[in-house]
Amino acid sequence: MTDSALLHRPRRLRQNSAIRRMVREHALQPADLVHPLFIVPGQGIRNPVPSMPGVAQLSIDEAIRVASQSQNLGIPAIILFGIPEVKDKDPSGSDARNPDGIIQQAIRAIKKSLPDLYVIADLCYCEYTDHGHCGVLRNNPQPFQNEQEVDNDATLALLGAAACSYAAAGVDMVAPSGMMDGMVAAIRNALDQQSFSHIPILSYAVKYASAYYGPFRDAAESTPTFGDRRSYQMDPANRREALREASLDIAQGADMLMVKPGLAYLDILRDLRERCDLPLAVYNVSGEYAMVKAAAAHGWIDEKRVIMENLTAFKRAGADLILTYHAPEAARLLQEGYLG
Ligand code: PBG
Ligand code: ZN
Repeated sequence: MTDSALLHRPRRLRQNSAIRRMVREHALQPADLVHPLFIVPGQGIRNPVPSMPGVAQLSIDEAIRVASQSQNLGIPAIILFGIPEVKDKDPSGSDARNPDGIIQQAIRAIKKSLPDLYVIADLCYCEYTDHGHCGVLRNNPQPFQNEQEVDNDATLALLGAAACSYAAAGVDMVAPSGMMDGMVAAIRNALDQQSFSHIPILSYAVKYASAYYGPFRDAAESTPTFGDRRSYQMDPANRREALREASLDIAQGADMLMVKPGLAYLDILRDLRERCDLPLAVYNVSGEYAMVKAAAAHGWIDEKRVIMENLTAFKRAGADLILTYHAPEAARLLQEGYLG
């Protein structure tokens, strides 16, 4: 058979940009993006995070500016991480339940200035506890381990209280990220009992104990003072367990599920897409962002193309929503009609 006798020639549909656009299977849109923001007390503050070029800790007034720019770019939602002053951190993370805590103030101020911007609050205790773990501690029942460990069930009640406090401040959605067993049910019950049954829960259902969170912990000042998070976050080697975690959260009433991190876990995202019908979010985490920025700063990659390729990969794998620090840059590229 000579070349000209080939029946199938996939290249026919790749010959120019018009036909490529016509047969493109997935398209990223600004409406797919959620922009994460780190909120600190004070005024006029933009503290750049060294390991995340382009990202800064923001005081509430600056956060309103940044959030408004994102909204003007067509990004529908932000997710907030509150970072209280060190003196306001304690063993139970009480600032997370304080009606005048940093995140409650941020939610109120942002919703007041930008009522149509959808505000999600990350719901976890690691930014609020003085030990940096994602819940309260108890003496470890196991001998020869760290003296203390996270007390799952005591943390559940505190998560419910924080969720209600964010809802009272006007949040649109809560996103529990601490990987406590039963967290979705506990938060759902607490919200429902306080007439917040309209507040949806985006569960970080499948969250791995990942080295890719390194830069985030600088930004959120949430590195644990002892041990690590491997007794609550998942082992990166596990796939079936992700489906179990997802099923448990669905059974407890989660409205959406998240997979985190993203790029190294696209297989898990695809698994969930095939096995469940809830909308799915993926977190393009800090370490993934930092690697792109670092390589781009060296001139080693075409930054814009890599950003779009990564974000499109999330869509292709099955994500409906993408939490990403690239959100404003990506939305701007889309607005400009960037095609790579
Ligand atoms: C808090 C939380 C973390 C991230 C989101 N929520 C860090 C962690 O679990 O240590 C990571 C996000 C990122 O790396 O961008 N539980
Ligand atoms: Zn946490």
